[in-house]
Amino acid sequence: MTLLEVKNLTVYFKTFIGISKVVEDVNFTLEKGESLALVGESGSGKTTVLKTILGVLPPNAIVKGELLFKNTNLLSMGNDELSKIRGMEITYIPQEPLSALNPFYTIEEHFLDRLILSGKPKAGILSYIKLRRKVPSELKKTMLEYLEKVKIPDPERVLKSYPMQLSGGMLQRILIALAIVSNPSILLADEPTTALDVVTQKEILELLKELQKDLGLSIIYVTHDLGVARAIADKVIVMYAGHMVEEGITSEVLAKPLHPYTKGLVDSIPKLVGGGLHGIEGGLIDYYNPPSGCRFHPRCPKAMSICRETRPKPFIVNGRKVYCWLYGE
Ligand SMILES: Nc1ncnc2c1ncn2[C@@H]1O[C@H](COP(=O)(O)OP(=O)(O)OP(=O)(O)O)[C@@H](O)[C@H]1O
Ligand SMILES: [Mg+2]
Repeated sequence: MTLLEVKNLTVYFKTFIGISKVVEDVNFTLEKGESLALVGESGSGKTTVLKTILGVLPPNAIVKGELLFKNTNLLSMGNDELSKIRGMEITYIPQEPLSALNPFYTIEEHFLDRLILSGKPKAGILSYIKLRRKVPSELKKTMLEYLEKVKIPDPERVLKSYPMQLSGGMLQRILIALAIVSNPSILLADEPTTALDVVTQKEILELLKELQKDLGLSIIYVTHDLGVARAIADKVIVMYAGHMVEEGITSEVLAKPLHPYTKGLVDSIPKLVGGGLHGIEGGLIDYYNPPSGCRFHPRCPKAMSICRETRPKPFIVNGRKVYCWLYGE
């Protein structure tokens, strides 16, 4: 079942020096229980895509296209309807765990707020104050249950702790627990493991994979790291400068990248044996004045004249979508 369909999503930002044409014509679908990685270097528009889905873009954003969640367009929904979906059915784990939590609230208080927000229990302001004074045992049971789902040791103690008293890995687990407490169908994750050491990173990725299976979650995972994409995602979308360049099954894309940009990206993964590092020549583009045709053409070793003139359509090669004229008729 298709949960989310992103159609011709275009996001521009209006600023005092002009219009920054960041994301253009992003198209993909997300199935129930599927995990998708959005991969691209810094500034390629990954967070912008996630923020659009979550509905937290700043007011200078101009958005076009459609975001169909269970066949209804999120971009044309009223605020009341949206508040039932965003933060509830579609939730989010941020990059920086410590800054995402309130330092003056215990973990229990964070949970209580999330539970009340998701309507279990329904509480007005007075009952909220009461609940904060003494958390009823059934609510506490729910909190402990979710802390166990994310494998927090000694959950009773953790509930009474403040964010500063816990490690980065623990906090990331807590953020995951807070994100799944509303029983979402889609979880958006924006590089949630970059601030962690490799061992903890691996544990968090394994946890997300498990939750994906056990809860039937669909995950969109943003990362600049193809290795992370391989560990977490069935499907990968590679973005370059706000455009999609390649989309396919993660293992297949990594084994045999087709787009010259993806090739460069795969070659720049440090290998264990020899070879040294291969980067991609050149820097990111100017979004106020993006290159014509394929945005990668100024850096592409295989650029042809058509690449400068016309934006490539997605060509289907071995069941994969490649936005590159090398694969055109
Ligand atoms: N509110 C805004 N106004 C103007 N430009 C913006 C705004 N928000 C983002 N941008 C620009 O959009 C581009 C893409 O940013 P985005 O944060 O989506 O990239 P990213 O792929 O997530 O990068 P990173 O890996 O560094 O997090 C950047 O050039 C950024 O400066
Ligand atoms: Mg980002």
